[in-house]
Amino acid sequence: MRFAGKVAVVTGAAGGLGRRYAASLAREGARVVGVDRLAEGLQRTGEAVEAAGGAWRAVVSDLADPTGAEAVVGTALDAFGRLDILVNNAGGGSSGPDAASSVAEETLESWRSLVDSNLTSAFLCIRAAAKPMKRQRYGKIVNVASRAARIADPNVQQSPAYAAAKSAVLGLTRFAARELGPYGITVNAVAPSLTLSGPVLEAYWNRMSPEDQDRYLRQVALRRLPDPEEVVAAVLFLCSDDSSYVAGVCLDVNGGSFMAP
Ligand SMILES: NC(=O)c1ccc[n+]([C@@H]2O[C@H](COP(=O)([O-])OP(=O)(O)OC[C@H]3O[C@@H](n4cnc5c(N)ncnc54)[C@H](O)[C@@H]3O)[C@@H](O)[C@H]2O)c1
Repeated sequence: MRFAGKVAVVTGAAGGLGRRYAASLAREGARVVGVDRLAEGLQRTGEAVEAAGGAWRAVVSDLADPTGAEAVVGTALDAFGRLDILVNNAGGGSSGPDAASSVAEETLESWRSLVDSNLTSAFLCIRAAAKPMKRQRYGKIVNVASRAARIADPNVQQSPAYAAAKSAVLGLTRFAARELGPYGITVNAVAPSLTLSGPVLEAYWNRMSPEDQDRYLRQVALRRLPDPEEVVAAVLFLCSDDSSYVAGVCLDVNGGSFMAP
């Protein structure tokens, strides 16, 4: 039980990966506060957390708004008295049917929306969570970036706003790691590659021709897509004290398709 006694906030907790992070943290002893703008999906995550034996609170909010981040941190403190772990997972949005896949197609509206959900949400949640974590002199913050932050891969449909926002998440990670490290708070990132976390991405993958799928997989050293639980394992490592001397890194979870020098 790596997270016994710990309190975790998971953003984007109604989504495919967010639900898995929340349930896995609970399975290992954490009490979890989930936040998302989708109430129905959050309720299903609550059921998964409780089935895993964890205590649960939900906050329905848009994290592009600063009151959302303050509300979720306030809920953790009111309900459970502390805040140990923050997983900044809210975001996504590069592979939907309407997503732009070039600078020429990106609209200012989609740019702002993707930057808000992938980057601004992480900034606001770190700012809000840092206060109680500093008081405790303990905290584990994990920012979910993407392989799109590491490489412009012509074999997947990716929005430039998404790539830019996720790249900025890595800059924010380094900056916050340096600022918060003296208080015993680690800040790190993960950069997963395409993971079939739910119906939207499953449909995206299934729309690709066998040749395109093959071209994509040939650049992956392990020659397969990840099981979503393999991404969860990497995030939970960074949430746990197993990573006590790891700060400011980006952990690539991509099967060896982008290898940082
Ligand atoms: N699945 C992948 O292939 C993959 C790969 C790399 C990175 N990621 C990242 O992992 C994270 C989770 O991905 P997923 O596949 O579970 O996607 P998902 O769409 O299932 O989940 C994302 C959740 O974030 C929520 N969200 C977005 N903006 C928000 C906001 N402003 N306020 C509150 N909630 C907000 C959405 O409502 C959704 O429930 C995302 O940040 C995504 O970019 C996913």
